[in-house]
Amino acid sequence: MTIKPIITLPETVLRQVSDPIETIDEDVLQLADDMLETMYDAPGVGLAAIQIGVPKRLVVLDVADEDDEMAPLTLINPEIVKQGDKMRDHEEGCLSIPEVLVEIERPTPVTVRYIDRAGKTQELEAEGLLGTAIQHEIDHLDGKLIIDYMSRLKRDMVMRKFKKLARG
Ligand code: NI
Repeated sequence: MTIKPIITLPETVLRQVSDPIETIDEDVLQLADDMLETMYDAPGVGLAAIQIGVPKRLVVLDVADEDDEMAPLTLINPEIVKQGDKMRDHEEGCLSIPEVLVEIERPTPVTVRYIDRAGKTQELEAEGLLGTAIQHEIDHLDGKLIIDYMSRLKRDMVMRKFKKLARG
C-alpha cells in the first residue's frame, strides 16, 4: 500500500466529474487500498479517488472511533437511492480544504447502493456521521465541495486564501 499526496484547493481537478468503474480488477482494489492508507494517515473519515487525482467513482470511509476496531468501507460507483425526511446538521471538514469547516444540513438516513470489492451490488442504510460522510464523498465524485454550501462571499474568501497559499 502507498500513501498518496492529497490534492488540495485551488487545484481544479477537484471539480472534475468522475467516471463510473466498469471492471473491478486488481488495479481498482489496489487503488482502494492506497486510498485507505492515505485516509488513515491523514487522518480522515473518508476519501474519494479524485482527491488523489484519479477521476473514478470510488470512495473509502471509516467512521469508527479511535478506540474501536477499524471499519474500512470501499464503495464503488456509489449512489444515493433513498433519502429519509429528517435532516442532520454537521460541521464538515475536507482533506482537500484544510482548516475550513462548513456547517451542512443533509438528509438522514440515506440508502446508498454500491458495488463492493467482490463485485457484488450492495445497499446500505446509513445515518449519523456515516450518512453524512457518504454524501460528502459522493459530492466529490460530482466535483462538488463543502465550500459550495457556503455563501458566495465566504466561498470567494476561502478561494482567495488557497490561491494565495499556492502562490507561496
Ligand atoms: Ni472531502
